[in-house]
Amino acid sequence: VKNIAVLTSGGDAPGMNAAIRAVVRACSYYEVNCFGVYKGYEGLIDNDFTQLNARSVRNIINKGGTFLKSARSKEFRTKDGRQKAYVNLKENSIDALIVIGGDGSFTGALKLSEEFDFPVVGIPGTIDNDINGTDYTIGYDTALNTVVEAIDKIRDTASSHNRLFLIEVMGRDAGDIALNSGIGAGAEEILIPEEDMGVDRLIDSLKKSEKSGKTSSIIVVAEGDKSGKNIFELGEYVKEKLDGYDVRVSVLGHIQRGGSPSCFDRVLASKLGVGAVEALLEGLQDVMIGIVHKNVTTVPLKTALSKRIHKHDRLIKVADITSV
Ligand code: F6P
Repeated sequence: VKNIAVLTSGGDAPGMNAAIRAVVRACSYYEVNCFGVYKGYEGLIDNDFTQLNARSVRNIINKGGTFLKSARSKEFRTKDGRQKAYVNLKENSIDALIVIGGDGSFTGALKLSEEFDFPVVGIPGTIDNDINGTDYTIGYDTALNTVVEAIDKIRDTASSHNRLFLIEVMGRDAGDIALNSGIGAGAEEILIPEEDMGVDRLIDSLKKSEKSGKTSSIIVVAEGDKSGKNIFELGEYVKEKLDGYDVRVSVLGHIQRGGSPSCFDRVLASKLGVGAVEALLEGLQDVMIGIVHKNVTTVPLKTALSKRIHKHDRLIKVADITSV
């Protein structure tokens, strides 16, 4: 492997810059040429490559977003799009590709490798923490801290006005952000996609809290929760069923994707970036670099894309006990 290309794809996540930096610097260390591709798979299709050296990535470890830009490419989902991408990779003499992104990005990477026998390695970068085969994805820790900081602020005003707040957080079909930020911010209830508590149990529990003397409440709702109501409908429903509280809804939105990465995410991104280059140099391909029990590991991309076996049970119990 003499020439490696790197791109960021899908929803951006804090720490992606740190991961690119680690890839570029590992290439420099192992004396391999490194090329950045702009706008994810769009840049592969449009032949938007740039050569990067160790100095190209200075002063970015602390920056949110991704300086290579990101996109969710529709064209790359077509065989024609991937064919164009492959031709450009070959024209630029690229031997292997590192994709920093989430499951959608890995699906594209696997297709490219299967159809054209092109070596790819994935680095998990998404705030959702929803990838199988890694304990953490890059950006998740920073997003959690952003959410907890935001909820702390909402708690101040909730408590001043004796209000009940429903706060929607991101995470797509995973409840990791909701569950962990909910525990960290002391939420009374947490609704996650993996465990449908049902709206009636929610109301019962809120009534109990009210009786026990709680004057304000925070309910964290994962965007993918299975209550069958969107957060505004849920807010109306709670308002109807509970007359003691003044109810407000707050959707945190894309604030969760921005900001300077936490130290945890910077270190994680550095380990995974170096690991990705080393994996390619060892001849591995079609794998994702992950972190399991603090060790950098590799799993086949296919495994990374399979359903995640997650055990939220203990955390759900902790949330129940600590919100009494
Ligand atoms: O996958 C990251 C994520 O932020 C999800 O949590 C969210 O559902 C989605 O991306 C939002 O995507 P977009 O920025 O394209 O609206």
